Amino acid sequence: MTQNMTITEFLAQHLQGEHSGALNAILDDITVAVKQIAIAIDAGAITGNMGSLATENVQGEVQKTLDVLTNDIFIEAIQKSGYVAGMVSEELIDPVNLTVKNGQYLLCVDPLDGSSNVNVNISVGTIFSLLKAKNNQPELNDFLQAGTQQICAGYAMYGTSTMLVLTTGNGVNGFTLDKTSNDFVLTHPNMQIPQETTEFAINMSNYRFWQEPVQRYIDECLQGTEGERDKDFNMRWVASMVAEVHRILVRGGVFMYPSDAKAKMGKLRLMYEANPMSFIVEQAGGASTTGLQRVMEVAPTGIHQRVPIMLGSKNEIDRVAIYHQKKSKRK
Ligand code: AHG
Ligand code: MN
Ligand code: MN
Repeated sequence: MTQNMTITEFLAQHLQGEHSGALNAILDDITVAVKQIAIAIDAGAITGNMGSLATENVQGEVQKTLDVLTNDIFIEAIQKSGYVAGMVSEELIDPVNLTVKNGQYLLCVDPLDGSSNVNVNISVGTIFSLLKAKNNQPELNDFLQAGTQQICAGYAMYGTSTMLVLTTGNGVNGFTLDKTSNDFVLTHPNMQIPQETTEFAINMSNYRFWQEPVQRYIDECLQGTEGERDKDFNMRWVASMVAEVHRILVRGGVFMYPSDAKAKMGKLRLMYEANPMSFIVEQAGGASTTGLQRVMEVAPTGIHQRVPIMLGSKNEIDRVAIYHQKKSKRK
């Protein structure tokens, strides 16, 4: 067996510049949180944590026991380094201020992504993004920074193995949890998304609600060798964004949750789903668009705002964007 570098060794060697000390410490805390979440998810129904609560989150979604548990694990773990001044989470209406002396960073987190999959034993994840704080007492407005301002983004995937995939703006690296040593080890250095693909992921049941550019793109994929594209496409839909993005990082593809007649701003949240995933995808050579704008350039107006998103292999995302631009010019 080859000796893989641990995440601690990797970060010590590769993090450079003004944020390196803080990032080392914060990522250490995130690693602790992710390991705890992996244990909670692994335990499945044994601990009785698979059910739903009577509460709803700010989006009106019924909270699962694990949504709340994973959120609590994050709040607890992230206080240790003393560098994180405040946190926004899918599971909290307002930002929380952490009682630290030297908080210079802000964390946005989706503690459990794909939670509808948790009691059917399908992959789920955690998504996070780090921003610079103005001061130690952040206000809601301080979080409203465009994705281009992110210092670091990552996701954990609780799949057939537990993985942590990270960018600090210098490429994307993937680590796998070695359960014998309880260390994350580097298994996927410098992840690159192939520019070409013949695989797409979208919730097809929304077809009739989509706008014309999305219908056109998917229609052409479905026509395969008999249509405009002259090649056959394959489709996947896991209903866990983390699992879809991970597949795209490993073998290419596109993932789309566009705006439609039912969900005017799409479904996914800008600050803790779309922006971190867009940062990772761009850092791996892919692209991410709302259709008309680079996702990371959207100016946020709310911590829980939704955004249409289409990301993945660059040539396909460029094509989808052109279809949207043509439609908007016709208007
Ligand atoms: P969350 O569990 O954090 O609310 O996110 C679920 C999201 C995303 O992970 C996934 O891509 C999408 O919702 C699935 O949506 P459908 O229910 O339309 O399949
Ligand atoms: Mn999510
Ligand atoms: Mn979630």
